[in-house]
Amino acid sequence: MKVSAPATIANFGPGFDVFGLCLEKPFDVIRVKESNDVEITVKGFKVPVNPEKNAASIAATALLRMLGVEGGFKMKLEKGIRPKSGLGSSGASSLGGALAIAKLLGVESRELIIKAALEGEKAVSGSPHGDNVVPSLFGGFTILTSLSPLKVFRIDADFKLVVVLPDVEISTKKARDVLPEAVPLGDAVRNIALASSLVSALKEGDIESVGKLLDDRLAVPYRRALMPWFEKVRKAAIESGAYGVSLSGSGPAMFALGENLRDIGKAMKDAFEEEGIRAEFFIANVGRGANAEVY
Ligand code: HSE
Repeated sequence: MKVSAPATIANFGPGFDVFGLCLEKPFDVIRVKESNDVEITVKGFKVPVNPEKNAASIAATALLRMLGVEGGFKMKLEKGIRPKSGLGSSGASSLGGALAIAKLLGVESRELIIKAALEGEKAVSGSPHGDNVVPSLFGGFTILTSLSPLKVFRIDADFKLVVVLPDVEISTKKARDVLPEAVPLGDAVRNIALASSLVSALKEGDIESVGKLLDDRLAVPYRRALMPWFEKVRKAAIESGAYGVSLSGSGPAMFALGENLRDIGKAMKDAFEEEGIRAEFFIANVGRGANAEVY
């Protein structure tokens, strides 16, 4: 079985741990065959080759155990998503590993696939948040209401955005450790206003309004301490015409919506580089979710 599992933008502005957007690229490719042992080989970006430390094999093994299946698999992982970049790298690998085993064994339950994938996500990122694995499976824009039972609202969004990847690594664990236990009520209220309006604008296909609703008061203000360049890059994007900008997941990648995405990406890249940080950007469409095929 061969699965491609795409990158995602978790949080998508004000939807901390709830909103997720699937990108059409980059993606991880996971190939599995049944076997008695568990073996994994990795190509592309560097991630652990020890099956007990690799998100894809942890998730695949978790699904086998949940189903009570003895035995293992041979897995080949082509890592196309850069780890610790904010693009849901561990989420995509985890989802890909679980989905490949599910397809091999004819398991259709999305709840079970997500549950197994979260084992990989938790082991690697330190927390079982579902806002990367869910959009990587479902595609489009997802609103994760509950993991158990699995309840997801999906909007079939169709637009382009620019993603800027600085040459810095920030682990999700580190980016969650800086978050407070409680937030001021006014900030929570503001996020409800932003998040609910964003969903409404997205359903109407009003991307300019979506962009203008990308602020966040729950996580980004605390994470800025880890990313002192954030304000400068955000400003560069807005000054070059972006409707709005935010962190992708827990960062450091950032994304922006607007018309002239190439100019916006270039302005953001230049702002990073003025801070002495190499950066690249790419323009992506909203993705349709993970794909599985027999090969
Ligand atoms: N919602 C998660 C966070 C996404 O912001 O910590 C991490 O990829």
